[in-house]
Formats: sequence, C-alpha cells, structure tokens
Amino acid sequence: MQRLTYLLGPSLRARPVLRRLAQPASAGFFRAPISTHTVPTLKDPTLLKPFPFLDNEFLVPTASQSTFTVADPVSGQTIAQVPDQGVEDVRRAISSASTAFKSFRHTTARERANLLRRWNDLVLENKEDLATIITWENGKPIADARGEVSYAASFLEWFAEEAPRVYGDTIPAGVRANRIITQRQPIGVCGLITPWNFPAAMITRKVGPALAAGCTVVIKAPGETPLTSLALAELAKRAGIPPGVLNIVTTLENTPEVGREMCSNSTVKKISFTGSTPVGKLLMRQSADTLKKLSFELGGNAPFIVFDDADLDIAVAGAVISKFRSSGQTCVCANRIFVQEGVYDEFAERLSDKVKEFRVGSGYNTNTTHGPLIHPRAVKKVHDHVEDAREAGAEVLLGGKKMEHLGMNFYEPTILTGMKTEMRLYREETFGPVAALFPFKTEKEVVELANDTDVGLAAYFFSKDYSRIWRVAEALEVGMVGINTGLISDPAAPFGGVKQSGFGREGSKYGIDEYTVVKMMTFGGIGDLQE
Ligand code: SIN
Repeated sequence: MQRLTYLLGPSLRARPVLRRLAQPASAGFFRAPISTHTVPTLKDPTLLKPFPFLDNEFLVPTASQSTFTVADPVSGQTIAQVPDQGVEDVRRAISSASTAFKSFRHTTARERANLLRRWNDLVLENKEDLATIITWENGKPIADARGEVSYAASFLEWFAEEAPRVYGDTIPAGVRANRIITQRQPIGVCGLITPWNFPAAMITRKVGPALAAGCTVVIKAPGETPLTSLALAELAKRAGIPPGVLNIVTTLENTPEVGREMCSNSTVKKISFTGSTPVGKLLMRQSADTLKKLSFELGGNAPFIVFDDADLDIAVAGAVISKFRSSGQTCVCANRIFVQEGVYDEFAERLSDKVKEFRVGSGYNTNTTHGPLIHPRAVKKVHDHVEDAREAGAEVLLGGKKMEHLGMNFYEPTILTGMKTEMRLYREETFGPVAALFPFKTEKEVVELANDTDVGLAAYFFSKDYSRIWRVAEALEVGMVGINTGLISDPAAPFGGVKQSGFGREGSKYGIDEYTVVKMMTFGGIGDLQE
C-alpha cells in the first residue's frame, strides 16, 4: 500500500478529488461551464495498476527504478508515476510471450473465443471505471470515454466470433496424384505499439485478433495513457487469459529503445503500430533485418468534401463528428474541408452555429462536449497552424485562441475560412479542433485536391447524386471513404490506409489475417482407386 501511494499522485488518495480551476475572466460563446474538475471514485480501485504486466503479474518496482509521470491533461497534475522500462524489460516480456506461445498456439479456436468473450463481458461490466480512467489520463468527455469502452469491447466480441472461422482452403492440384490444402497458423509473438488517443480501443483492436489467431503479445503501452491498458490487462487476467499471453511494457523516455528492440528481436514475428508516418518509417527500417510482418495505421490528412447537392444538415452533422471527435485528435478526423462555392457561405454559417454550442472543459462534467488536447505540444501545433493560416489570409470565423483560463491544454474549437493550398494545414495533419474550409468549383478539381497528399487514410464526402457518389468514392486515394457520414468506425469495417498512411487492415473479417500465416500442405502419391 505504501508503494502504491508512492507511485500514484495525490489525487488518487483524495476520494473524490476536487480541484477548483480559475473562473473564466469573461464569458465567450463556447465558454466552458466548468469551475471544478472532479475525478470520480472508482467502484473497483484495484483496476488502477500503475505497473508493467508480465506473466499475469503486475511488477511492483523498487523505489530506485526510474519512473515517468502520467499527467491529467485538464489540470496538469500527476495521476501516477509508472516505471519507465527499458530494453532488458522488453526482452523479458518477449521471452515470456514466446514461452506462452508454445502452448497457447495449441488451444482450440473455441477456447480462445471463450476467453475473448469473457474479457469482453468484464470490460463491459467495468465500463464506468474504465471510462473514468480514460477521461482522467486522456481528457475526452466521459460520454465519449464510455463510447470508447463499448467500441473497445466490440473488437473483443468481434474477434471472439472470428476465432472459430479462420478457415483454410482445399486447392485443385496441378499434379493428378497430389492434393493441396492450406491452414492459417498463428504467426507467433507480436509486438503491438498503440497510441494515446484511444487508450482502450487501439489495444483491443490489435490484441483481439492476435489472441483469436493463437498469437501471444507484448504491448508497448502509450506513455501518456498507460493506465487504461493496464486496467484492461487486469481484466484479461480475470477472464482467464493464461500467463505470458498478454504482456505490457510501460515506458515514456525509453520509447525509442523499446521500439527498436521489439522491431529487431528475432523472436517477435510481427509488429502492429498505430501512430505517425515518420515513426512508422523508422519502425519499418528497424524491422527490415528480421523481415517481420508489419501492419501500420499511420497519419492521415483527411479530405471532407461538401458538394452543392449535399443535404447540408447531414454534412454539418458529419463535419461536427468527423472534425471535432476527441477534439480533433483521431487519425480519421477531417483535416481539409472542401466546400463547393454554391454552398460555401451557408455551410460555414451552419457549422459555426453548431460549434458555438460546444462546451469545452473537464471531461467529468456531464455537459462538457469537448475536452482538452493531450499535451502542450499538441496545443502548440494547433496554434501554429491557425497562425500560419491567419497570416496567409484566412479568416478566423470562430475561435482561434488558446483557452488558458481552463488549463494549459485547451484550445477553442475553431473555424477558418478562405483557406488556400499554400497554408501548412493543407499539407500537415493538425490533430486538433480546427475546421479549415477550402472553397472549390468542380468535382474534378476537388478530387485532385483531395488526392494531393502523400497519405491516404480516410476521406468523406456529401452528395445526393448517385452517379457522383460512385465516381468520387472510386477516385479518392484512401483506404476508407465515408459517404454522407462523418463516422466510419465499426468493428465490422476494415480500418486502414493506402500511400503513406500504411498498410494492413484492423477489425473486420480481414483483421485476423494480419496475425496468421498461410501454410500449404501437398499430399502426394494418391493415385487412382485400387482394383
Ligand atoms: C484512430 O484514430 O486511429 C482510430 C479512430 C477510430 O477507430 O475511429
């Protein structure tokens, strides 16, 4: 207990925590209604485990080991000090996963399905606590965090259902006396590197198919949000997932060394990574010597296109969800919003009316619609994009400022009009709450603009014209297209990109392929029926 007190920030010890934030100096149109930031008490405090997870045990470190701080993005206060593990630790985790693989690979698909199903049930039973932890370390509003827990569980449920359906083929052989079949076997130990923007769902979207296939895993938990992954690990253990099958390494400062070891260690057969394109390229280079199977879900620069013939109510609702979900911090958030000239002004005005209704503040306030960004670096990037656009002639229709009275990580939901292609935001993903509206004239022009980027994760467009819908959907160079919707996330849908947004698909019937290898068996000497 003493050690736990050492590792957890003061806020966990106060039940419940009440921190008074400065009142805003003057009222703005989406001024946050908050004056308090209250972290609810967990129903099951044993879910908070600020320790690495190895062989189904949480490794309580000695005080002398180095730790990193997990900070509340609303208040900046310490939530926990978590061990900053290094190369030796990740090697131990890989070795543990390797030992576990020897037996786990021989479990039946039904056994693995049952484990995943029990884990899914426990995640849903503990939804409120998991949501509380997500909001605490990530900042997203509690309703969104609850939604994320359901989303996370849905991958466990989906892959529980997929596990018994990993079929092979029988293939007509080219040689008369031969018969050919295939089996899909688990690839082995997988290294999973996940981001902070979906602290739960990005874990289950990778672990679900890995375990369903019979693989074992080492997860590098996101340094900003490790506590959600560790709570999930506790629930995995309670679900009966055997020791060594799921291991979690915690690190922030040592992330580069830990990542390099995962990629270069020959025991690891596959890396799945969600994060930025530059880091994806680095991990790919580091994986080259051991020729690992890779699946990467990397950055995007999503075009969001509103044609003159769109239903503007649907398009505005789509922009609100696609642009401002998680305060703009998802890989599939709209980045460049292209609006055809005939509806440009009306769309801008209607979007502005909706965004004015946002309530920014502590995620625990039930009337908060949008929380903080993850850290000051994120705020700086958003601010830099807005200033760059402003200096190059864009008009700030709404927002455009930091909300320092709320805390260091808040930025006003912003709408920019008169955007031009030479502005930074056209080329770079903002990853923040900035809706940047670019005007366009023709379908051909906008498809060229949409495709004028090295990346291709998601795109959205809004139109009622059946023929245009086919033409544009087929012409967009992305892995995923939302047509008349701003929300495409679904465990049934294959998630992934093209170009420098990566390769491989997560979720869906394809997701499990990333964790299997096809083995072919030829049976020879069969011949004709004997007399
Ligand atoms: C992501 O941001 O990478 C995931 C978004 C989603 O699954 O909706």
